Amino acid sequence: MFVTHLECTSCGLRHDWKRLQNLCTACGKPLFAIYDLAAAGKLDRLKRSSLRERLGTRGKSIWRYRELLPLPADIEAVSLGEGGTPLLHAKRFSGDVDLWIKDESLNPTQSFKARGMSVAVSMAKHLGATKLAAPSAGNAGGALAAYSARAGLEAHIFMPHDTPRANVIECRELGAHVSLVDGLITDCGAEIARRKDKEGWFDMSTLKEPYRVEGKKTLAYELAEQLDWKLPDVILYPTGGGTGLIGMWKAFHEMETLGWIDKKRPRMFSVQASGCAPIVRAFDAGEKFATEFPNACTVASGLRVPKAIGDFLILKILLESCGGAVAIDDEETIRVSHEVGSMEGLFVSPEGAACFAALKSLYRDGKIGPGERVVTFNTSSGIKYLHCYDGSLANW
Ligand SMILES: Cc1ncc(COP(=O)(O)O)c(C=O)c1O
Ligand SMILES: [Zn+2]
Repeated sequence: MFVTHLECTSCGLRHDWKRLQNLCTACGKPLFAIYDLAAAGKLDRLKRSSLRERLGTRGKSIWRYRELLPLPADIEAVSLGEGGTPLLHAKRFSGDVDLWIKDESLNPTQSFKARGMSVAVSMAKHLGATKLAAPSAGNAGGALAAYSARAGLEAHIFMPHDTPRANVIECRELGAHVSLVDGLITDCGAEIARRKDKEGWFDMSTLKEPYRVEGKKTLAYELAEQLDWKLPDVILYPTGGGTGLIGMWKAFHEMETLGWIDKKRPRMFSVQASGCAPIVRAFDAGEKFATEFPNACTVASGLRVPKAIGDFLILKILLESCGGAVAIDDEETIRVSHEVGSMEGLFVSPEGAACFAALKSLYRDGKIGPGERVVTFNTSSGIKYLHCYDGSLANW
């Protein structure tokens, strides 16, 4: 375990990682965990083998990258077997692109949110929190509920009142206290901020605590490992808060410092829904921050994030990587989800389906070329979104 401190992503101020922390105490921006990666190299020399080689002997969960995660080595992780998901070659949907699907629906609670919550709940418990609270568009709530139950901690989840039923029921059945809010995820976050001190809650909002992004960064470690340490040309990421995208970019930097990969980076594309596309708007306008997207509305509930606290980090990554941002209409998302289902055998979530639609659009526009290696993330399962398909069922 090589974590040394937390550092502000904006002003660089250092914070103690051994205390429960939310945002930077000076400027209110997200904190990153910083590791002594040179010490990892020293350990390699001592053991006469590299950590990268030693991974081969370990179990499949995210905790195989334990030295690059913040939990001290002698503390048991709160785990349900998250991570280790398959990277599937898509041979039929792909046309002449070399397309790979990272199928995150196979995680506990059927979404990639499990990765972040396993690490964040492990750390919150270790650092003394007893009551955890988070706003959720749906899947983060399910994951927080599951890992809190596993840890013996209280979970308080605030969701928009029109969050998919499957997510609401899942949270309740996992023992969480669920509040439905007449508003969007930003209103849920504001409600937690108002009440957390009085209630004794630790705020687990994504990027408002430093460790969910650490769990999500394992997407990149797995991807690199599965592709034999050669990163793809393009990554398509369904972007709400952007935690996975930000986490992967952080992990690429860590892996390069460790000497595990070279300098090459994928072109990173944020995929959003036309009804809630703050990052697409800001990227197209060349802005550094994204303004709140008005009247946010989409069936891809995980993408219904009108204002993300990590907006400036997402926009910087898209620019630095020579990637971009694409918005997809809900009708196209639902249509493409059927195409992917019937061609690849995966009932993808709308967020995942939007990325397949984005691939078509980027290919049409010449932003992705023939033969390029593209990785897309199916971040959850269509089974959690049956209401999106009821209309089409009625026509059958
Ligand atoms: C299925 C799904 N995909 C994508 C996202 C967006 O993830 P991120 O916040 O990392 O951008 C979410 C977030 O709720 C989600 O539930
Ligand atoms: Zn700061």
